[in-house]
Amino acid sequence: MKRIPEPELMLDPAQANAYARADFAQPHQRIADQFGDTFPNLKLNGAVLDLGCGPADLLIRFARAWPAARFHGIDGSPAMLAEGQRAIADAGLSGQISLYERVLPARQLPLPTCQAVLSNSLLHHLHDPGVLWQTIKEFAAPGAAIYITDLRRPDTVEQAQTLVDTYSGNEPAILKQDFYHSLLAAFTPAEVRQQLKDASLENLELAVTSDRHLRVSGYLPG
Ligand SMILES: C[S@@+](CC[C@H](N)C(=O)[O-])C[C@H]1O[C@@H](n2cnc3c(N)ncnc32)[C@H](O)[C@@H]1O
Repeated sequence: MKRIPEPELMLDPAQANAYARADFAQPHQRIADQFGDTFPNLKLNGAVLDLGCGPADLLIRFARAWPAARFHGIDGSPAMLAEGQRAIADAGLSGQISLYERVLPARQLPLPTCQAVLSNSLLHHLHDPGVLWQTIKEFAAPGAAIYITDLRRPDTVEQAQTLVDTYSGNEPAILKQDFYHSLLAAFTPAEVRQQLKDASLENLELAVTSDRHLRVSGYLPG
C-alpha cells in the first residue's frame, strides 16, 4: 500500500485533548523500561531531547526514572504543549523538563548537545522523514544514545482497519480516526532502512517490535 501522509502538526485543541487523555500508560512505560534495557551501561545525567513530545507523558516517565538528567521536549503544536505544560506541573517536574514550541526542522534551538535523543510517533507525521534524522545529527552529541519508536505501515487498508479495531476498540472516535490515518502515513521497515542509509546512520539498529511498531536504536559513532 502506498503511503498516505497526514498533517504534520496536531493543532486542533480537541484532538490534542483527546490524545492527552488517552491511556498510553502501558506502551509509554514500556518505552522507558526498554530504553533502560537497551542502554544498560548508560548513566543518564546530561541533556535528553524528545522530538515531537506531544503532551509530555513520555518525558514525565523518563524524568521520574532518571532524576539526574535534564529533559527537553520539542513540538510544533501549541495545543499539545499546553497539555504537556499542565501535566509536567501536575507531576511536579517543571524544574526538570522544558518544552519548546518549534516546527522541525528547527535550527538554533537554545539546547545543549544531548546525551540521548528520543522520539515516539513523530516520524510518521513528517512529510520529509529526513528531518528527523538530520535533527538527531544536529543536536545529539557524538556517542549519544538514540531511541526512536513509531508505527509501521500495514500492507493494506483492511489490515489497518483490523489493527484499529483490535487495539483501540474502546477509544473515542477521534482517536480511532487518528490511529487509522497514522497507520496509513507510517513508513515500512524497508523505507526506514533507506532513510538511515541516506542519513549515514546505518549503524543504528532497526527492529520490528510488534504487528504495528518499529524501533530504531543505538549509539551514534564517537
Ligand atoms: C502522535 S503525536 C506523539 C506525541 C508523543 N511523542 C507521544 O508519544 O505521546 C506526534 C506529535 O508530533 C508533533 N509534530 C509533528 N510534526 C512535527 C514537526 N514537523 N515539528 C514539530 N512537531 C511535530 C505533533 O504536533 C504531535 O504533537
